[in-house]
Formats: sequence, structure tokens, C-alpha cells
Amino acid sequence: MKQTAAPKTYRVKSFGCQMNVYDGERMGEMLQQEGIAEAAEGEDADLVVLNTCHIREKAAEKVYSDIGRLTKGKTQKKAPMIAVAGCVAQAEGEEIMARSPAVSMVVGPQAYHRLPAMIDNAVSGKRSTDTDMPADAKFSALPQRRKSAPSAFLTIQEGCDKFCTYCVVPYTRGAEISRPYAALVDEAKMLVEAGAKEITLLGQNVSAWTGEDDRGRSLGMAGLIRAIAAIPDLARIRYTTSHPADMDDALIETHGEISKLMPYLHLPVQSGNNRILKAMNRSHTAESYLKLLQRFRAVRPDLALSGDFIVGFPGETDAEFEDTLAIVDEVRYSQAYSFKYSPRPGTPAATMDDQVPLEVMDERLQRLQASLRRDQQAFNDASIGKTCEVLVERKGKREGQWLGKSPWLQSVHFTGDVAIGDLVTAELIQAGQQSLGGRLISP
Ligand code: 5AD
Ligand code: SF4
Repeated sequence: MKQTAAPKTYRVKSFGCQMNVYDGERMGEMLQQEGIAEAAEGEDADLVVLNTCHIREKAAEKVYSDIGRLTKGKTQKKAPMIAVAGCVAQAEGEEIMARSPAVSMVVGPQAYHRLPAMIDNAVSGKRSTDTDMPADAKFSALPQRRKSAPSAFLTIQEGCDKFCTYCVVPYTRGAEISRPYAALVDEAKMLVEAGAKEITLLGQNVSAWTGEDDRGRSLGMAGLIRAIAAIPDLARIRYTTSHPADMDDALIETHGEISKLMPYLHLPVQSGNNRILKAMNRSHTAESYLKLLQRFRAVRPDLALSGDFIVGFPGETDAEFEDTLAIVDEVRYSQAYSFKYSPRPGTPAATMDDQVPLEVMDERLQRLQASLRRDQQAFNDASIGKTCEVLVERKGKREGQWLGKSPWLQSVHFTGDVAIGDLVTAELIQAGQQSLGGRLISP
């Protein structure tokens, strides 16, 4: 590689999950500390970080086509310095380096605190790859948090030891690690001082978080939520994503006791059929999952439920798929995410017999999504007439319109004299499938 000028501006493009959004923000903060400014919208950036996702479908191809567009002048006039970060970097770093000479650095999700050094390398004409997974080294090396949107993410736990047979996460994000309690409470306070009204605690298996408080007593998620709820100017707490195996009594109780903990739970079930669940190496059954939900609903009757589903896992029969429709009918999710099974290289399911044909998966996905849309609409219809707090997050498309979130994570649009970051009271007066219309009551 040729020597090149040090980048003055950057852009981070994050794909995939909320943790990537969080990582993207933290990479940005670190680059700013290095004196590199975020490129204004529509302007060329000297450095582009592609923060990639590997969870489903053609992730790597997407990265190569993005790289092509960046170097061929389709995304911006001048070809930038390119960094590939995130889970594709972790899984296919070496290959990307070999195939794409335009890429200056490949950095895995646990190593991005080393970006500044890699940028220095690139400036002096050296390419670098770093896909090490040192536990927690990244977080202590990142700068403090100074700016925050009203709704902020906070990664408390990373990695996964569950090894669902379809999933790459245990390989790309590594083993489960929990960030230390004190560091999390500090980061939460910083976010609140920087303007956050709502914090969403993030982890691939967020409820598997464990730690010790200041006096050395061991804590789980429930204890951490209580500590963060004690921050006076923080109004709302959410967490995502949970595995049914990690939901303990203490956590269930907090949903009934901590009013700042919002009445919303994302708890993926993946399938409603016990044979498929077993083949997926999920440790729950349809029945144990439903029982668990009952316990949550007993302490928080208005809890909105969300989930993830995979259709067409290898060997899934029509009748087994019907069980997924049946569990959806039973739960009545307020919203959910559903996917066609996608074989991930290196996972056990990728080499299982009886891969389901694409047309079959397409048809199943359409039927499942029709049910999920029906339930989302019904949930929103049932909200009409409720008065609730809405956290104002941004301006809407129309003049004078604002967008915010209800406690149940519904998007609410309304007009009125408010500002981003306000917690306002609104009556929900109109329901679409994806959003609700509200009437401002106060301020
Ligand atoms: N194919 C399809 N969907 C998948 N997910 C994870 N791995 C796969 C895969 N190989 C889905 C699961 C998970 C969500 C984040 O992505 O539903 O909960
Ligand atoms: Fe993947 Fe299963 Fe871990 Fe979720 S719990 S990240 S689906 S292996």
C-alpha cells in the first residue's frame, strides 16, 4: 500500500443489530478524540468504517459490493481509506484482506479500541488485521461519553455461550463476558449527564449479566437494573436481547416493582415446535416459554412482548411450522422479527440434512408475517384511548410533527410545542400497524 495523508473526516456505516449501532457510536467517539471529525451528510469522508453484520444471508457479499462502490466513486467522489469492522471482519478478516486490496484494516468487534494505531499504520502504507478477543480490554480503552441522544444504548454483556445450532454469534462475538458493575453505573451516569432519558441495556444474552456491587456482593440483571434506576434524571430503562434460560425470579420481580423499567420484553422463542427447538439447541420448550411469559404477565399485566422467529430450520415439516403459528396465536406479540433460516458457515445446522427449499421458506415466512402483522395491529388498536408518556426522539416528516416512543416501544407521532428529549403526556388516538397517532396533553 502507498503512504497516504492522515484522515481528517470519518463515516461509520453500521449494519445489523443494536450492538453494532452502539459499537459504531463508540468508534466514532474514539475517532473524534483522535481529531478526526464526522463527515457531514452528503460529503466525502477520508475514512469509512464498514461495521458489518454476519447473522444472516450474504453478509460478506454485501461488504464486497460496498467496498466496490466506495472505490469506484459510486458512494463518494474520492475513494476513502476503508476499515472493515464488526462480525464479518471477525469471521472472514483474512479473506477480506486477500481479496480486497482497497481495504486498509480489518478489525473485530473486541479489538476496535486499536483503530487509531491501525489508522497510523495505514497512513504509513501498512495494512493491518486485528481480530483478537481480549476480555473487556476494549471498554477500558475507549474515551468517556459526552454526547447522547434521548434514547441511548449501553452494552453490558457481550458474547454467547448458548450455541444455538444455527447461529454464528458464539464464533464472531466470542464467549459471554459481563462488563463490571462500577464501569456500567459510571457509563450510565455519563450518558444521563450527556442527555439520555432512556437507556437500553444491550447484550447478546443480556440477562446472563453477572457482577459484583461495591461491597463485593454478587448481582444479576435485577440488581444492575435497580442500581441504574436509582440515577435521578434517568426516566426509562429497557434491555435486549434475552434468552429464556436466563430469566430468573429476581428479574421477573423487577418488572413489577421498578416503574422506570418499561413494560416491554424482547424474548425470542425461534420456533413453536419442541423437536425443532431441540435441534436448534434451545434449552426451552414451547410450554416452558409460555409458562415463563405467564410469570412476567402476572407481575406486569400490560407487558408488550416481542420475539424472533426462524422459519425453515433444516428438517422443519409443515406440521412443525404450524406449531410456530400456534404459539404466535397464543402469545399475541406486540411486534416481532422473523427470518428465513440461513445456513451460516461453521455452524452445526449448516451441514444438517433436509435443508428446506427456498420457496417453502418464502411461503412460511409470508404466513408467519401475516399473523405477526395482525397481532401488531391488534395491539396498537387496543392502545387507542390510553394516555401515556412519550419520549420525544426526533422530528417527523411533516411540518410541526414529532416522533417518540410509548412505554410499549410503539412509535407515536403528534404535533405540539415540544423539544427532542422531552417526556410528554399524550393520548393515543389513532393506530396503524407500525405507528400510532397521539394528541399532546402536556406540557
Ligand atoms: N438464520 C436465520 N435467522 C437467524 N438468526 C440467527 N441466526 C440465524 C440464521 N442462521 C436470527 C434469530 C436471532 C436473530 C438475532 O437472528 O432469530 O434471534
Ligand atoms: Fe445466537 Fe442462540 Fe446465542 Fe442468541 S442465544 S446469540 S441465537 S447462539
